[in-house]
Amino acid sequence: MHDHLLDVNITKRFGNMDVLTDIRFQVEPNEFLVIVGPTGCGKTTLSNVLSGIDTATVGAVKMHGDKVDPHKHNLSYIFQEPSCIPWYTMLEDVTMGPIIKGQSKEQAEARGREVIKLVGLEGYEDYYPRQISGGMKQRVAIARAYATNPDLLIMDEPFGHLDAQTRYLMQIEIMRIWEQDRKTVVFITNNIEEAVYLASRILVLSKLPATIKCEYVIDIPRPRDLTDPKFLKIRAEITRECEIVE
Ligand SMILES: Nc1ncnc2c1ncn2[C@@H]1O[C@H](COP(=O)(O)OP(=O)(O)OP(=O)(O)O)[C@@H](O)[C@H]1O
Ligand SMILES: [Mg+2]
Repeated sequence: MHDHLLDVNITKRFGNMDVLTDIRFQVEPNEFLVIVGPTGCGKTTLSNVLSGIDTATVGAVKMHGDKVDPHKHNLSYIFQEPSCIPWYTMLEDVTMGPIIKGQSKEQAEARGREVIKLVGLEGYEDYYPRQISGGMKQRVAIARAYATNPDLLIMDEPFGHLDAQTRYLMQIEIMRIWEQDRKTVVFITNNIEEAVYLASRILVLSKLPATIKCEYVIDIPRPRDLTDPKFLKIRAEITRECEIVE
């Protein structure tokens, strides 16, 4: 019964406003689940509830069979807004998580250097956020998320602030990292092309209040070609479902 990594069955309201209605799905170990939905439909609200930093109005999110709790469960959350601490170097930033989880300074630093290398930022360990680009900050956020070796990574539109070129490079990068160890990812986006490029499976959300409209298993081999007819077909199909004019 507790075979799923995550078991979600939630409704969320803010006062009288319904935001998430009867959202039910499971997340399996090692999958790259993408949740795609239009702007303002409740994606960040869903991310907050999935990660346990907010609670459902009805129902619950269960991780390994227990109510999700960021203090207890080993999960990382990459926020929609860029979030580097201005007075921390890159190494100090990514070391913080492992230290909070109880590692010694030496262990945490070793892990910090490892994840900085993982995201391709070796050599920038002593840089401050003001000295690095937006794309590099997002790599730091990914490194920080991986640093604690989480069972689950929740990413809320992590590339939404990046220009198209950097966004594309980051999509390639996140796939490269995921293919190394297949850590379970729940990736949230409003970008259908990004969803089809990354996902093992896609859940499509409706406009506010969000419900799950449909689900697609994406079995196109990786790395995916954005111009492959199969890619374009599924992308067009989801676009129609989302009622988003691209
Ligand atoms: N804490 C809150 N209290 C009241 N209303 C909220 C709260 N958080 C979000 N909302 C409302 O819930 C709705 C969904 O917001 P949310 O940020 O989850 O959408 P989103 O899909 O992430 O949007 P975007 O695409 O812009 O990132 C909005 O109408 C928002 O005003
Ligand atoms: Mg959002």
